[in-house]
Amino acid sequence: MRDFRAALQGIPLPAALVDLAAVDHNLAQLLAPVRAANKTLRLASKSIRCPALLHYLTERSGGTIRGVLTYAAAETAFLAEQGFDDLLLAYPTVQESDANLLAATNARGASAAVVVDDVEHLTALDAAARAAGTRIPVVVELDLAYRPLGSLLYLGVRRSPLRDAGDVVAFVERIGGFSGLRFHGLMGYEAQIAGLADTSLARRGMKRLSRADVAGQRARLVQALAARDLRPTLFNGGGTGSLGSASTEAALTEVAAGSGFLDSLLFDHYRGLQLEPALFFALQAVRRPAPGMVTCLGGGYIASGGPGADRLPQPVAPAGARLLPLEGAGEVQTPVRLPAGVDVRLGDPVLFRPAKTGELAEHFNEYLLVRDDRVVERAPTYRGLGRCFLG
Ligand SMILES: Cc1ncc(COP(=O)(O)O)c(C=O)c1O
Repeated sequence: MRDFRAALQGIPLPAALVDLAAVDHNLAQLLAPVRAANKTLRLASKSIRCPALLHYLTERSGGTIRGVLTYAAAETAFLAEQGFDDLLLAYPTVQESDANLLAATNARGASAAVVVDDVEHLTALDAAARAAGTRIPVVVELDLAYRPLGSLLYLGVRRSPLRDAGDVVAFVERIGGFSGLRFHGLMGYEAQIAGLADTSLARRGMKRLSRADVAGQRARLVQALAARDLRPTLFNGGGTGSLGSASTEAALTEVAAGSGFLDSLLFDHYRGLQLEPALFFALQAVRRPAPGMVTCLGGGYIASGGPGADRLPQPVAPAGARLLPLEGAGEVQTPVRLPAGVDVRLGDPVLFRPAKTGELAEHFNEYLLVRDDRVVERAPTYRGLGRCFLG
């Protein structure tokens, strides 16, 4: 693992770095199955949170990356101001200010669609759209959790209550009753495949069975809509961990991914993903609490989700450095045990990888974009641009 010492010369720590050569590698890897299937990829912005990187990826994709999958209405409006014109907010909202922002963004000429699965979503969005004299495109989400034993077992994340094609068709038919809305498309995210590493035989087996189930459900949904002459403009599915399989499904018009371009720790144990770590943070070693150990300043950038050790960042340079199990990564101090024979001078950087990619941007004002051991650009994160969308 590179230690980026040359790039970090004279840079105040903590600092967050993006290795552009690794990003380029990941771009080629992730886009290959999408291109082969003649589909497009929508960037999951929650995993990137840095407009310069969103532009970087889009511009180098040769047209394969089209549009952004956003996570907040205010973020959607903000990205429209930054020049992105094909936006899909993947998480519903009923807040009046959010609905107004989405309506205003559409009224200004961008396409700002939003995921829905409840009539309360439709009511809130419709009121704002009519007040703004526009229409908001809506995308209906199908729940794709794996439920092999019916209601007894639910393997997936809790998103939409629309469980099957019949539920979605009935819901889509209600959209026609709202003059401020337009049925735009479908979302079906298989989190139990895309977001789950292949760390055990049981998981791999579940994922294989679920993959077939998901593909069947998405295909049946498109058929059921076509039978009613309802034709979605887009059908979005997939994530970094399922691009290979999702890209091959005829029902999907596009796939989504974000994390894989930066490749955080959580993606280390997926079969078939040949990604390179591209996002790091460097902390200053400030103490020697015991032989073979240094304590770094900062480091408590813990990822969200079910709590567990896999949410912690991990030191990667010097190679073999480890967190202490009882302290983990602390808010202002992070001790690391060094491998035998390795010394870190006080003031030197210790390099870490985060468990997830997007949340690191909430801790840093800028990402240092590094190529050939040089910082070639200081790219402001949302935070650096004074934006914080989910608090
Ligand atoms: C709707 C949706 N699609 C795709 C993704 C995949 O994102 P990533 O590739 O960053 O894992 C997510 C992440 O949670 C998501 O919510």
